[in-house]
Amino acid sequence: MASSLISRRFALSLQTNLWLSAPGCRYVSKAAPKTQLEYDYDGPSMKTSVPGPRSQALTKQLGEIQNVGAVNFFCNYEESRGNYLVDVDNNRMLDVYTQISSIPIGYNHPALLKLMANPNHLSTLVNRPALGILPPENFPDKLTESLLSVSPSGMTRVQTMACGSCSNENAYKAMFIWYRNKERGHNMPSDEDVSTCMINKAPGCPDLSILSFNGGFHGRTMGCLATTHSKAIHKLDVPSFDWPMAPFPRLQYPLEEFTRENAQEEARCLEETEDVIVKWRQKGNPVAGIVIEPIQAEGGDNHASPDFFKGLRNIARKHGCAFHVDEVQTGGGATGKYWAHEHWGMDDPADIVSFSKKLLTGGYYHKDELQADKPYRIFNTWMGDPSKNLLLAEVLNVIRRENLLEEVTRSGKALLNGLYDLQAQYPGILSRARGQGTFCAIDICDDATRNSILLKARDKGVLLGGCGDRSIPRIVGEKLKRVHLTISTIHTITRTEILYNVCFKIQGQMSL
Ligand SMILES: Cc1ncc(COP(=O)(O)O)c(C=O)c1O
Repeated sequence: MASSLISRRFALSLQTNLWLSAPGCRYVSKAAPKTQLEYDYDGPSMKTSVPGPRSQALTKQLGEIQNVGAVNFFCNYEESRGNYLVDVDNNRMLDVYTQISSIPIGYNHPALLKLMANPNHLSTLVNRPALGILPPENFPDKLTESLLSVSPSGMTRVQTMACGSCSNENAYKAMFIWYRNKERGHNMPSDEDVSTCMINKAPGCPDLSILSFNGGFHGRTMGCLATTHSKAIHKLDVPSFDWPMAPFPRLQYPLEEFTRENAQEEARCLEETEDVIVKWRQKGNPVAGIVIEPIQAEGGDNHASPDFFKGLRNIARKHGCAFHVDEVQTGGGATGKYWAHEHWGMDDPADIVSFSKKLLTGGYYHKDELQADKPYRIFNTWMGDPSKNLLLAEVLNVIRRENLLEEVTRSGKALLNGLYDLQAQYPGILSRARGQGTFCAIDICDDATRNSILLKARDKGVLLGGCGDRSIPRIVGEKLKRVHLTISTIHTITRTEILYNVCFKIQGQMSL
């Protein structure tokens, strides 16, 4: 039954690339250290539909305290292992969604548990310092071992923060400060600058903008929200800045088959971007910075070519705008490189690169000239969390030791081939399979089908996530065109299982 459901192409790619036994089997890379064998589960195991009775009772209880509209189910993190998330009803699911793409190497990884069991690290866990004023002795060393060991090209400075939005929000501030100092020719604000900023007026609070892209997502705080254009639900009823938006290319997939059409679409978007920058300068609200995701994630897994990003980088330079690459979702290895922008092959890809999620701490790398010139301009109480740097250093060790980036590239190819096969088999339901590494997505014909697939796959023990439009059409009355299913993860083990189960289970749903 199982093998008849796996298409020949996918089965072949699995045979050549991977080791496979039965559905739900455990795959462990031959190179994997022994500890991995001991800690991972050997497949999904479902006791109830999800959410089960215990989850439902807890949702009711929590509902009396806060809004629980988004809660899927409650989890048992102690019992979760590797690629498997266990819920409070003892259902064990293969987790391909990984806490909104934020788990870098699986649950309760032995290397991380060992690190945390070390008594020398207890004080780092127990005492959370105000890093901006009272950092611990080992802070520079830990930053060097963790974040600086994977610095994007051309960047030797990093500022840690809490979450993704907080990182972007501060990155925007850094771009504005840089821009104003550039305009002044020095970093000494006038008395008028100082007095007017206190009453929210120019020139102290200047008319400057950040250019973002249609479909982009950069977070939900006030500044970030002005650059977020993925779903109305995030923005509704919240005042915003008058900042420009340019079109993000809508490419056809597979990319190799539509090079001419896609190049035209990207050229159109670049031209419009430049027009927007010029218009905004003319209307007295110049663009200080451009922010973009290397792959639009929350907005529906939209890709663009290295040439598009190179063109954009040049436009930013030409018009004196800082170029901010938001790698909150794409950073950390899921594309087969630490940073998705590495696929562009540029020595000088950006002025600012922000991160969070799989990097465990938020923050942003930046060029020297975007260093804030005075203390407290880029600042908050915690400025990150040293325990996360400790964990990140070990995560990076595991990624290196086990060659996980190569693994992502290899298994991502098999995954994408599986998705191509599925869309060939179900052309009315699936389309536009696309991906880089395991950062893969496929469009589903409508939101009802997408939601049904997500729920059925979950009841069968595979936890997938959606991205792209879902609720906007109901809010703003637009016709829904496409919805998406996203798979974005990097795993240490059971890789065959992920690929096999995802494709198998989706196929199972289709034939229901
Ligand atoms: C590209 C991107 N930027 C920023 C954010 C915001 O991060 P956070 O939810 O941690 O504030 C996200 C979150 O999904 C994201 O995908």
